Amino acid sequence: MTQLPDDSPKSREEFEQTFLTNVTTCQWEPHPLYSVFTQYDQQYYLDRARVFLCKYKCFYAVSKTISPKKIIEMGVLAGSSADAYLSAAPGAEYLGIDRFDVNTRQDDYSPWDPYDIARRLFESRGFRNYKLLKTDLRALSSLPYRADFVIVDAAHDFDSAYADLKLAMTASPTFLFVDDSDDVNDAKPAIDKFLSQEINGRIDYTVHIAYQGGGLVIKLKDAN
Ligand SMILES: C[S@@+](CC[C@H](N)C(=O)[O-])C[C@H]1O[C@@H](n2cnc3c(N)ncnc32)[C@H](O)[C@@H]1O
Repeated sequence: MTQLPDDSPKSREEFEQTFLTNVTTCQWEPHPLYSVFTQYDQQYYLDRARVFLCKYKCFYAVSKTISPKKIIEMGVLAGSSADAYLSAAPGAEYLGIDRFDVNTRQDDYSPWDPYDIARRLFESRGFRNYKLLKTDLRALSSLPYRADFVIVDAAHDFDSAYADLKLAMTASPTFLFVDDSDDVNDAKPAIDKFLSQEINGRIDYTVHIAYQGGGLVIKLKDAN
């Protein structure tokens, strides 16, 4: 496993306490031009602004609590969550993996290119230490390198979520973070099976983060 700073949380209680401090003191705001609140389907998020702002601040606080050196995110879309993770860990190296499919806007039928938007967002924030990998996760048998913090937020159907969790482990992470972990129809059964059948005995602790859709932090035991 990659080394974490000495001040990374040693126990579930310590994680919860530090996370609580980080989320309540979070000053981070979504980018004024590039976020879910400005993208082509912004109305959905604007109608639920309070809960989605809370969700993205939780992303920020999870990352700040972990204080990672290397982040791999599976499922980037246009980089809104990456903005939160990276803003909280300014020195970290980031790899975002996604198919980055170009969508067609419903209003004027113009293309909406998440790869291009993520690049502009990162440029505007001044993030330099990042790579965006345009590929299908199903084409990967392992992640390209080790990372202390791996985020799983691609397709949420059972088979994809399960495969992504297994793929995430190939980076030998210290922390896994699974977004939308409360989804009882798809992601949650996949996470439960993964926890009990794939990494049983390797879990140090888990922390459920309560926001829209829910998130699960999984701290893996040190390999030593
Ligand atoms: C929920 S969105 C990610 C949202 C982003 N993490 C955020 O919170 O702002 C899921 C993303 O996963 C990507 N995705 C789904 N299945 C994938 C696959 N098999 N390979 C690569 N990307 C995939 C989709 O293209 C989409 O951009």
